[in-house]
Amino acid sequence: MTDYSLTTSLLEWYQSNGRNLPWRVKGGAHPNPYIVLISEVMLQQTTVATVIPYFERFIKRFPTIFDLAAANIDEIYQYWEGLGYYSRARSLHSSVQKIVKEYKGIIPQTKEEILNLKGIGPYTAASILALGFNQAETVIDGNVIRVICRLYHLTSPINTLKQQIRELAENLTSQQHPADYASAIMDFGALICTPQNPQCLICPWNKKCQSFGQTDIDLIPLRPKINKKEKCGNVYIITNNIGQILIEKRREKGLLSGLWEFPWDEKCLFENAIDTGLNISHTFTHFKLTLKIYTLTTTNFSKGKFISPKDFKNYAFSTLMKKVWKTYSTKNY
Ligand code: ADE
Repeated sequence: MTDYSLTTSLLEWYQSNGRNLPWRVKGGAHPNPYIVLISEVMLQQTTVATVIPYFERFIKRFPTIFDLAAANIDEIYQYWEGLGYYSRARSLHSSVQKIVKEYKGIIPQTKEEILNLKGIGPYTAASILALGFNQAETVIDGNVIRVICRLYHLTSPINTLKQQIRELAENLTSQQHPADYASAIMDFGALICTPQNPQCLICPWNKKCQSFGQTDIDLIPLRPKINKKEKCGNVYIITNNIGQILIEKRREKGLLSGLWEFPWDEKCLFENAIDTGLNISHTFTHFKLTLKIYTLTTTNFSKGKFISPKDFKNYAFSTLMKKVWKTYSTKNY
């Protein structure tokens, strides 16, 4: 049976405690769904604190869907640089171009159409429909899973609970105020029902929460542990005789697509490369990569281009490659 008092108390809590975020309005749908689209794509796999400055810069440069659709992808990458998961930028660009071409720039309002856009999965589709159009869609992310598992004290591994969590989350979703409810449950997970040290004493749901006062609350939800694979490789700082450095553009598909990088490989292919003794590590979603940094002087390269380090700022590099340059240049420049 649906407990409407939980929905109501969460909405009340949100009115006074919900965060003021640059992509958010309180009291219904956002008047500009383009803002919702951009922020939700940026917030995929990225925290609110990280996204805020990127979002603000991005919207200043691309204030409307038409500005973004008309932009060059390399410039978009520059505004995305450091946010990670660069394929999101490319998918977003192709989606807004489709919206401009096929929908006259108006973001479609059905789940089917939204899911047909590149880079939009069920979570982002639900949040765009709820936040941008006030539709009673249920958003289910890591925060919501934690909140639901604790509220109903579900202690089995979450992969066995997917359907149950969905039904319970749907039952709580407000039919009258879905936009505010979606924001409220996100903020509730981020501010009150936090992974560690949840703020149970000030929680608006504590009287009904089946985990309130239980010693295992920090352990809920139970997530099966996945060991990240470890990979190793080599990265080459290749210099020509005027001190320029070779960079290459990654292909437009897959990991870090479209970004610029120093050449790297998983075997040492350059026999005359010199080991600097430096290395860097970077953790991706599914693996951890450690790269040993080598140097090499040559002009004989068919791929990529030589540029001066002072011009690096004009090229979008991944965080991985920024780390490489930082580590190398602090020792050598
Ligand atoms: N995470 C995903 N979407 C969000 C939003 N709109 N506000 C806060 N956190 C979010």
